[in-house]
Amino acid sequence: MTLSETRLDTVHATAHGAVDLGALPRDFAWGTATSAYQIEGAVAEDGRSPSIWDTFSHTPGTIDGGHHGDTACDHYHRWRDDIALMKELGTNAYRFSVAWPRVVPGGDGPVNAKGLDFYDQLVDGLLAAGITPSVTLYHWDLPQVLQDRGGWPERATAEAFASYAHVVAERLGDRVTQWTTLNEPLCSAWIGHLEGKMAPGLTDLTAAVRASYHLLLGHGLATRAIRAAAPGARIGIVNNLSTVEAATDSDADRAAAVRMDGHVNRWWLDPVHGRGFPADMREVYGVDLPERPGDLDAIAAPLDWIGLNYYFPQTVVADPTGPAPHARQIDLPGVPRTGMDWEVDANGIETLLMRLAEEYGARRIHVTENGSSYPDTVGPDGSVHDPERAAYLIAHLAACARAARRGAPLAGYYAWSLLDNFEWAYGYDKRFGLVRVDYDTQERTVKTSGAHYADLIAAHRAL
Ligand code: FCB
Repeated sequence: MTLSETRLDTVHATAHGAVDLGALPRDFAWGTATSAYQIEGAVAEDGRSPSIWDTFSHTPGTIDGGHHGDTACDHYHRWRDDIALMKELGTNAYRFSVAWPRVVPGGDGPVNAKGLDFYDQLVDGLLAAGITPSVTLYHWDLPQVLQDRGGWPERATAEAFASYAHVVAERLGDRVTQWTTLNEPLCSAWIGHLEGKMAPGLTDLTAAVRASYHLLLGHGLATRAIRAAAPGARIGIVNNLSTVEAATDSDADRAAAVRMDGHVNRWWLDPVHGRGFPADMREVYGVDLPERPGDLDAIAAPLDWIGLNYYFPQTVVADPTGPAPHARQIDLPGVPRTGMDWEVDANGIETLLMRLAEEYGARRIHVTENGSSYPDTVGPDGSVHDPERAAYLIAHLAACARAARRGAPLAGYYAWSLLDNFEWAYGYDKRFGLVRVDYDTQERTVKTSGAHYADLIAAHRAL
């Protein structure tokens, strides 16, 4: 089924009228986003070494369905088709990540030319299609060799990250200006080292806090390294933030909400904005930070922009016997939820964009991820009608446009995701794509939501 046929779908007619995109700048980046391990496959090709996600996903019991990223969307071989899909959607920007274990398979030291060649070709292909590449250097796939030496809880990992960043920026920096150091360090540190639900699968508060520190230090050192290699670079960091509300008015729940806000938002935002690590959270964690003179300045290296990944709001209660931050998210009854069981609240993205602008003084913001998973069904003609995902997309874009109208300096929006892909611990059954992937045949089909996105982009261009 072609995109124009999909466009005939009925839900779209009603929705677009409600979205006033007039406040978005003329040169708005209309993008889609992916990450290396989730789409590339080809894990043992052209000199790539294993990452912590190869190890984790091949550990029995870690991933739903026993899935792993060995083949994923086979993007490593199909990237040309995928660029064609981006073009078909009308997007002018694409956020992808570089796999560190392809480029520096030893974690530190020798560079693998073939690994760099892959991204070099991808960048050229994107530019030829009129699509601006936005490169993320770390989307969770740490070379396993570095994990074997201690991983993010060790300072050497931050230093190795900066060297790797320099290598990539030196090669791509003549054509790529948009750079992200880290994607969602919260997930690497808290989910990977404290909750154990992501690689490397640890449940150790000290390791988690040390990892959080070295991730942010790595961000700062990498920022310096990218600027040295590519003076025209525009560098940002991407955080997944949530609005946080107390479930009740009780003092205990209100204090829990402050702690959760510290854990999810302030711990990641304050240090990069020169405010240091939040004192209240240092006390909550009770773990000494591996600080050295000059680190805080490195972490607070000036940013050109900041990335917001937004999926859901949080309502929390105190959980004194639970792990740090001794606060727990609860499920509100009667609210809409996605297939991930995540609450849908488009106002949250507006609130967070305003917070970045007003509280943190952001001068340029990209929504680097936003999207939803629902259990799609394929029609008899092969089409995928996904009105819930389309509604999520439209509602969140409308909220972004409201924030822009209120003065948030929003420069781009990257829908998560271009393709259905390997959704980490949830495997392939959770589908976030604007484009369906049939994992048996690798066939791609633009969903109705993708057609809506194309229409919204076209509508904005026509303004
Ligand atoms: C974000 C991740 C991304 C994807 C979405 C659904 O936390 O950055 O890779 O898994 O969630």
